[in-house]
Amino acid sequence: MIKLAFFIVSEYLTQIIMENDFLKSSSNVSSRFYDWEFDLICSEQKKDVNMWLNLAEMFDDPILELCCGSGRITIPLSEKGFKITALDNSAEMLQLLKEKTNENIEIIESDMTSFHLEKKYRFAFISYSSFQQLLSKKEQIKCLKNIHKHLKNGGVLGIDINPCICEEPDVLTKTHLYTAWFPPNNSTVSMFTSHKIDRKNGIKHWQDTYVEIDKKGNETVYQNHVSLKECNHNYMINILEECGFTIIDIFGDFKEGQVTKNSNNIIYLSGKKLI
Ligand SMILES: C[S@@+](CC[C@H](N)C(=O)[O-])C[C@H]1O[C@@H](n2cnc3c(N)ncnc32)[C@H](O)[C@@H]1O
Repeated sequence: MIKLAFFIVSEYLTQIIMENDFLKSSSNVSSRFYDWEFDLICSEQKKDVNMWLNLAEMFDDPILELCCGSGRITIPLSEKGFKITALDNSAEMLQLLKEKTNENIEIIESDMTSFHLEKKYRFAFISYSSFQQLLSKKEQIKCLKNIHKHLKNGGVLGIDINPCICEEPDVLTKTHLYTAWFPPNNSTVSMFTSHKIDRKNGIKHWQDTYVEIDKKGNETVYQNHVSLKECNHNYMINILEECGFTIIDIFGDFKEGQVTKNSNNIIYLSGKKLI
């Protein structure tokens, strides 16, 4: 019965999407729904916060968080007293962080491949597959070499990679993922996702559509595009070595367990080699 209701809603909304002239496609769409959606559907990824807290305790501040987004991890770290520089290239995501920030956080709007900061850090990290948003090896090397420059001697870099992004069919046509109440606007949001995998370049492209219906029945449609590069285990080990890092540990989950063929997250911890 529930499945049937979802199917009918999904079919109806797909129709709206196809007919709607008022289709918004802008860069701040992901920030509009990010915190809310993360809470709604990312129950597994949420467990990373404790791991980053443990690692911060182990390696100490000052900490550099690349791709901090709206501060999902920045805030808990700063509330534990860690001094943290939070860097992201999205003004909209950083605006969300600014609304929750405190004296332990320094916010920098910059690209992870080209930032330049005066400070040097004991610990740097990139959570939630964000490193994979760099779609070429050239960009990834630029980023890693830049981080290397910003680490103190003996400093450590942590990167959370999703190794499974391309383990799916080449194409997923628009599929209804959820319909849920969106409290900030007292509206209802239905989310549809689709993807295409470019096997040649190892890149997965998602297109997500959000249909928001307010209390008066007005609909607004938003689109968001995200692409991630496949980074397999050997690739990560080699690129880190190539950029002046030595692997010090690799976890296959957020409880610091071993890597298995079922690991959905692989966390690479590497130290700055002295060169
Ligand atoms: C999936 S979100 C993750 C946010 C946060 N780390 C978390 O775990 O909730 C990815 C973030 O990476 C940022 N990002 C993507 N490419 C970037 C780049 N080249 N330089 C800096 N930030 C980037 C996006 O703006 C976005 O905030």
